[in-house]
Amino acid sequence: DGEKPLKGRKAIVTSGPTHEPIDPVRYIANRSSGRQGHAIAAALAKLGAEVTLVSGPVAIADPVGVHTVHVERAEEMRDAVLAALPADIAVMVAAVADWRVASAADQKLKKHPGESIPTLALTENPDILKTVGHHTMRPKLVIGFAAETQDVESNARAKLERKGADMIVANDVSPATCIMGGSRNSVRLIRHDGVERWPDLAKEEVAERLAALIAEHFHA
Ligand code: C5P
Repeated sequence: DGEKPLKGRKAIVTSGPTHEPIDPVRYIANRSSGRQGHAIAAALAKLGAEVTLVSGPVAIADPVGVHTVHVERAEEMRDAVLAALPADIAVMVAAVADWRVASAADQKLKKHPGESIPTLALTENPDILKTVGHHTMRPKLVIGFAAETQDVESNARAKLERKGADMIVANDVSPATCIMGGSRNSVRLIRHDGVERWPDLAKEEVAERLAALIAEHFHA
């Protein structure tokens, strides 16, 4: 089907940040808006894929025509992604927190005059992309994102190997680029057989090009 080349294909997309609780009212988060991940989910659905979008807390609307699952923490995101397997395509775009507070407090941490200031002990979060990339139900196509502020390409290449991905979409998120939270993106596709640079594009255009590339992969 020319119009819907991904008809009959299942895709899982993660998007947005995760929120890692410190106590019932505080959390650790990052500046991800979810705009790129949501746009990719929408673009895949437009090409006919059956899309499950696992989204962290974002201020943007659920894309139309996509099954959206809302989560807060990385562990919840991992569980929702694994629950959506098997799938043909996984695009992990979420900016998952690398660490969470080792033991989040049940009650709000209180400020006690004269007492010492609390320190937060952190522990590692599950790596969702790596889990999916090495899973027995690994999707045929596993794509990761890499937000870097330095050595963008070499870091992305290392990630490709370590996480068992077919492709890493690398972008430079140094504050001067305005990519994180912004509406445009300039990416490099890192694959086992080479690198492709895309011009500066709207996040929707990056999404459409990526969805087209994914469709090609299944029809080549
Ligand atoms: O290691 P880093 O966080 O830079 O890798 C980025 C890629 O890995 C993204 O595709 C992101 O969605 C994914 N990731 C993940 N789970 C983590 C950390 C990153 O799925 N805990």
